[in-house]
Amino acid sequence: MTKSVADGLADLELPVGRGCPFAPPAAYERLREQAPINKVRLAGGGEAWWVSGYEEARAVLVDGRFSSDKRKDGFPLFTLDAATLQQLRSQPPLMLGMDGAEHAAARRSVIGEFTVKRLAALRPRIQDIVDRFIDDMLAAGRRPVDLVQALSLPVPSLVICELLGVPYDDHDYFQSRTTMMVRRTSLEDRRRAFSELRAYIDDLITRKESEPGDDLFGRQIARHRREGTLDHASLVSLAFLLLTAGHETTANMISLGVVGLLTHPDQLALVKADPGRTPMAVEELLRYFTIADGVTSRLATEDVEIGGVSIKAGEGVIVSMLSANWDPATFEDPGELDAERGARHHLAFGFGPHQCLGQNLARVELQIVFDTLFRRIPTLRLAAPAEELPFKSDAVIYGVHELPVTW
Ligand code: HEM
Repeated sequence: MTKSVADGLADLELPVGRGCPFAPPAAYERLREQAPINKVRLAGGGEAWWVSGYEEARAVLVDGRFSSDKRKDGFPLFTLDAATLQQLRSQPPLMLGMDGAEHAAARRSVIGEFTVKRLAALRPRIQDIVDRFIDDMLAAGRRPVDLVQALSLPVPSLVICELLGVPYDDHDYFQSRTTMMVRRTSLEDRRRAFSELRAYIDDLITRKESEPGDDLFGRQIARHRREGTLDHASLVSLAFLLLTAGHETTANMISLGVVGLLTHPDQLALVKADPGRTPMAVEELLRYFTIADGVTSRLATEDVEIGGVSIKAGEGVIVSMLSANWDPATFEDPGELDAERGARHHLAFGFGPHQCLGQNLARVELQIVFDTLFRRIPTLRLAAPAEELPFKSDAVIYGVHELPVTW
């Protein structure tokens, strides 16, 4: 198939919600067929380039001439409301919004926390956490159970507790606040949970500053001391970044992964027959749902040519990883959920310098959850038709609000 570049403005305002819960919006498919890069109108006003071809998406995300700094004029902020934007502009940028050397230094300072060795050490703790919540599900004696509340939300919350070194006695407090922050409750409740959690993290770091242990913050504090800096505020921000980047994403992927496997019994049977297949199945589920679509927006800081399209300095670019992950030129029959596809080169964790820092942690969590859940409850099934589940079709992070299951 030869790809051409679309002339003019596509007659469409983006983003649009997912219509079918198991596929990208039809409009995204049409746009990609038209051209891998199109100029589109944004729902919040303005225009941007919409990148939907796989090769073009990688080319943008790896190119240092595109900025991630959301505070810059012209940045395509179509997923943020005015209040969030104002908050963002009033605070120092987090790693996600930094560029170049500043970004590389911020990333380097924590990357050591996500090495294979550190993750191997976390594995048994993650297994314990998952087993504990499944024990509770089995002991509760009432069905159906909402898997979102019973497993998907608490598991990544407690894993982040492990990562940050939250003392065991505070786990319930931490978990109730993190869960409240992302639940379908009132804005007021979510704001309260947010400020209580911020105060808690602030206090936790103060405690660790006087007694640094052998955990992420203990090591960060020791490093700051060695280098003569002790920046309390940046440690609080780092904790929040890890929490916000790693909790809701992993939780939604746990829920959708279970939905994906239960609605594709042939694929589930493959995984059950040989857990050695789980890592590859996880990659395919990540590709298939691509839950964090549209978060990878950029601003061109120079004139750049990508895939034959001339992008001018100051123009916004939105990479649709969902479209890219369903590009048939890279993934044959993208609508087939194929646990044996070998989809590890998908873009669900982004690509290039900002590629997800916690991706290997997320992978370990997903693998342990799916293996353990289907081993311990082999008759698990949905307690409602899949099409009737309350999917988060318009949310920035795709997922499902509730997931009733029984066995
Ligand atoms: C299934 C789960 C997850 C998904 C789909 C996901 C997705 C992403 C994506 C797409 C990006 C790139 C954003 C960009 O290029 O602008 C990203 C960045 C990031 N993620 Fe994740 N993520 C997940 C889990 C996690 C976890 C568990 C953590 C840590 C506890 C984490 C921490 C981060 C951080 C710190 C960044 C910023 C990296 C940088 O700017 O250099 N993520 N994630």
